[in-house]
Amino acid sequence: MVNTISETIWMAHEATRAAAVASYDWIGRGQQKKADAAAVDAMRASLNAADIAGRVVIGEGERDEAPMLYIGEDVGQGTFGVDIALDPLEGTALCAEARTGSMAVLAFAERGGLLHAPDVYMEKIAAPAGYDGVVELDFSVHENIARLAEAMDKRIGELSVCVLKRERHQAIIEAVYDCGARLVLIDDGDIAASVQVATKAGIDLYLGNGGAPEGVLSAAACKCLGGVFQGRLLFRNDTERERAAKWGVTDLARKYQRDELVPGNVVFAATGVTDGPLVGGVQHTAEGAMTQTLLLDSQAQRCLLLEEVRA
Ligand code: FBP
Repeated sequence: MVNTISETIWMAHEATRAAAVASYDWIGRGQQKKADAAAVDAMRASLNAADIAGRVVIGEGERDEAPMLYIGEDVGQGTFGVDIALDPLEGTALCAEARTGSMAVLAFAERGGLLHAPDVYMEKIAAPAGYDGVVELDFSVHENIARLAEAMDKRIGELSVCVLKRERHQAIIEAVYDCGARLVLIDDGDIAASVQVATKAGIDLYLGNGGAPEGVLSAAACKCLGGVFQGRLLFRNDTERERAAKWGVTDLARKYQRDELVPGNVVFAATGVTDGPLVGGVQHTAEGAMTQTLLLDSQAQRCLLLEEVRA
């Protein structure tokens, strides 16, 4: 029987591994929806076999728009209450077009341990551990870069800043170039970017707007790694504002600190679908499917990179 969130880490691994292996057949087929559906199906089957009383709080959408792993869906066969944030295929286009960086991602938290973020955009900033109070969502790009470079004792020219390549980020992109920092532009996959920052894997700062669900998953990983993460929900219309109210979000302009997005203990799992900066993709070997999974645990302060071959 499960008694702590730490003990759920292997079930998290099972679920992301299953989703990644199921997505493998859809790499490079140009079929985003089918790739996502295969990942969702496999992750759901795995979660339903798990020894948890799981409830999806960040999932594939609301019940009327998502047939499976919808927000509010109960999964599992156990009694230990777990809130779940999941993204069975993060970077659907990356998988469908056989590009690097697609992953299956999930976080388990104690009940009440994750913000019930609606599926809207989120303004985000991530920095490595130890730089709390140095960078701030409300500072300008110039200020964040200058302060972080000074705190890291680096020249600004040596600082790498990651941003999603989107029209809406043009001002951020220009500001990074203007500062003289290195700009790492990514097509998709901002969870991996925040985790790369927190693991000090070549990126010093992540800035920009991406999905709020991905923001909560990023905050979960950053919490396990001690990294800095802040987010603010962004609303484009009244429908999105109403959706937020439905999830109990009343202060629409609130800036969330990492531990307000993820107040409880959490485990985080990410298995590579295609090769990426964090984890290698699924490979088929004579012995079976080989996967690489990053496993993080805030309670036990564990960070594991697990490679597994299974028939
Ligand atoms: P999907 O897996 O849903 O395609 O998300 C990929 C992603 O790049 C996320 O990592 C990111 O948060 C979001 O899309 C950004 O949204 P948009 O593509 O609308 O700019």
